[in-house]
Amino acid sequence: MFRRKFLATTLATAVALSLSSLYGSAYAADATTVQSDENWARNSVIYQIYPRSFADGDGNGIGDMSGVISRLPYLDKLGVDALWLSPFYKSPQADAGYDVADYRVVDPMFGSTEEFERLLKEAHARGMKVIVDLVPNHTSDEHAWFQAALKSPPGSPERARYIFRDGRGENGELPPNNWPSVFGKAAWDRVPGEKQWYLHLFDSKQPDLNWDNPEVRAEFEKVLRFWLDRGVDGFRVDVAHGLIKEKGLADLPIEEGRENAGALVGPMWDQDGVHEIYRSWRKVLDQYPGKRIMVAEAWVSPRERLTHYIRSDEMDQAFNFEYLMTKWEAGAFKDIINSSMALTATVGAPTTWVTSNHDTVRAPSRYGLKELGAHALPGNGIGPNTPQPDEALGLRRARALAMLTLALPGSTYIYQGEELGLPEHTTMEGKYRQDPMFLRTKGEEVGRDGCRVPLPWKADAPSFGFGPGDKTWLPQPASYARYAVDRQEGAADSTLNLYRRILELRHDHKLGDGKLQWVDAGKDVLAFDNGDLRVLINMGTQAAALPEGSQVLLSSEALPEAGKLPGNTAVWLKRT
Ligand code: GLC
Repeated sequence: MFRRKFLATTLATAVALSLSSLYGSAYAADATTVQSDENWARNSVIYQIYPRSFADGDGNGIGDMSGVISRLPYLDKLGVDALWLSPFYKSPQADAGYDVADYRVVDPMFGSTEEFERLLKEAHARGMKVIVDLVPNHTSDEHAWFQAALKSPPGSPERARYIFRDGRGENGELPPNNWPSVFGKAAWDRVPGEKQWYLHLFDSKQPDLNWDNPEVRAEFEKVLRFWLDRGVDGFRVDVAHGLIKEKGLADLPIEEGRENAGALVGPMWDQDGVHEIYRSWRKVLDQYPGKRIMVAEAWVSPRERLTHYIRSDEMDQAFNFEYLMTKWEAGAFKDIINSSMALTATVGAPTTWVTSNHDTVRAPSRYGLKELGAHALPGNGIGPNTPQPDEALGLRRARALAMLTLALPGSTYIYQGEELGLPEHTTMEGKYRQDPMFLRTKGEEVGRDGCRVPLPWKADAPSFGFGPGDKTWLPQPASYARYAVDRQEGAADSTLNLYRRILELRHDHKLGDGKLQWVDAGKDVLAFDNGDLRVLINMGTQAAALPEGSQVLLSSEALPEAGKLPGNTAVWLKRT
């Protein structure tokens, strides 16, 4: 389609990078750049497909490849540059596919390898790149390697692919250390009848691999090649900060583990040794034509450490989760935008912008809450027994946020349904929930099911048009009828049409490659120029004045009073 910037090969203007102005004004997205295919990862809008909830072709209630293929025209029309597919590999689905039993096989639940290849071909024909999810920290317990490990004795090469240790206590009845699982309870399970335990930082069905073992490294390079040979444009690397554990597996300093479970620091996270792995992967990717990319899912602290993952000989991007966690306050957004750009500039990488994904509360629901609290953190869902968001306020803010986020230079992620303004299913009863986080904590943690509900395509059809029948693997709330694609299609002011227009203008005005220049505005208003556009977002509740003679190209809400920008509203103006 017309907007595919990476199909163009025009020479972009050279822009100077001014680090001295860290908290001042000018930031460049890039140093001298050639706007070409090579550059696609620096400015692309990447759409996350969570296959089990996107579109169901065969009617079993779970989304699949044929569902995705049938909706490629929709994605093309939306105007995204690339797709990222969450795992679709053979898996018992203990963690919705993030527990892989075979890295080279498409789970029959989602389709076949041939169907994936068709998807890839058709997406490419439409000018969309496709990246896939790689899950290297752990396999499924049903992976052939883990099954072989269980059948082999302690000390065997089969066990050496994972992290098996003798338990503590007289008979090995206590776990080898006090590490908690991110999903609740201990990070160790005992092998029945033995002294040995195995480590799983996530679910019991997700044993951690031993990345000190060269065999593991060799195998994953082969997995990379397997998908690169099929033509994928890159990988989203799951738990990129977890692969290497500190030698000795020492206890966590804090005795009680649970509140430490989601901690970003500790002997299991962000060890320097992980970078050698990504440097070796870079070499593999660079052997393929075109630009194949890697994006790190790495929850690290302090944030400066995130830049290590995106040095020029490692990955291309890292998700900017701090942006996702920002509270609704102009000053807070300005700070995070400034610091994000300054940090990535230190290694010459593009900044990414993320407002939602399959692990966190959807933005309209997050920003509809009185207090954001812990709900910005992954897994801290909203349930029937927690305070409910103000749906209208949240949607209004999310629409404004889209206009802020997609006006920033760099690469932006859109999570499926975000373009519909879809809220979280916040009242889903426990009996439907399937997230291991909910199950392992016995509901103490609401978990992530609320953001994973199958998408509504048709307001008046069974399953809201998710599939041909009425089956959906998670229940959809009645309110999803209002958000259905067909309802939004013809409504000029719908969120879907807003996103389409945003993406079109973003492309035409080259905002992804642009340069941000702050402009003074009131306390609750953020204002900046990017190329020939001026962007304003009013995060307060009182209307603010628009510059005189403003030529409004797009606004997130109707502007009832001339010359005024209402609260929780954003505009793009044509600079004169
Ligand atoms: C990542 C995924 C999440 C998954 C976890 C374990 O954080 O985004 O969904 O549960 O890794 O693989």
